[in-house]
Amino acid sequence: MNAQPKSETPRPAGHSGAPHNTRTAAVIPAAGRGVRLGPGAPKALRALSGTPMLVHAVRAMARSRAVSLVVVVAPPDGAADVRNLLGDHALPGTTDVLVVPGGETRQESVRLGLAALPDDIGIVLVHDAARPLVPVDTVDAVAAAVRDGAPAVVPALPLSDTVKQVQPRSGSEPEPVTGTPERALLRAVQTPQGFDRATLVEAHEKVALEGEGATDDAGMVERLGVPVVVVPGHEEAFKVTRPLDLVLAEAVLARRRATDGF
Ligand code: C5P
Repeated sequence: MNAQPKSETPRPAGHSGAPHNTRTAAVIPAAGRGVRLGPGAPKALRALSGTPMLVHAVRAMARSRAVSLVVVVAPPDGAADVRNLLGDHALPGTTDVLVVPGGETRQESVRLGLAALPDDIGIVLVHDAARPLVPVDTVDAVAAAVRDGAPAVVPALPLSDTVKQVQPRSGSEPEPVTGTPERALLRAVQTPQGFDRATLVEAHEKVALEGEGATDDAGMVERLGVPVVVVPGHEEAFKVTRPLDLVLAEAVLARRRATDGF
């Protein structure tokens, strides 16, 4: 962990952009249990090629010259362990790292991460620990779009599957289809999602969602009536959710090692 802040170029002021001369932070919610991945340690602490997923995710953010601070939101009772873990792994660049305890839902964890930001942070990227392999170009593109004046930016990809809307049923009962959205109009959304800090904080103050809370920060900003734009995502920014995703992640890392000695 390092103490030197990175410098950034100035950006336009106003509600549709972060203020001048502020820094960019990445908040990484990493407090999920990851039950869909099967039994074991919290998802963010599972290893990919011998390195915890969270360390890959922190490195992915720290690799971007735009990011000068990473706030890791740890499992509620695991902040000390996560601090030790990050202390044991080298990080690229000169990025500061803060670790704070998370909450019961992803939305709550992000809110706690935002509360830990220093005053001079004007742009916030929110990145799932569960997307450990996002390329630096995607991180840079999201940060640049916010710096250029967009209050909320999401990386996303077109879908290869057709999507059906259904009436959910419990158990194995067949679910009635209620609609088929036009595939060409749909995008699968990834992280990091980038925000003007004030906009994201306002969304977390005003938009309260029941149950598991918001799974997507941009969706909360949309509810404020603030425009959200999409930039191209990347297939390597996929979310590690199920056991097969671990196989894919290992394959991506093996390919990177083979092609660029990464
Ligand atoms: O469960 P899901 O895959 O949607 O989680 C997305 C991200 O949110 C993961 O990085 C997970 O660690 C994080 N999360 C969190 N706090 C929770 C639940 C999920 O930080 N209570």
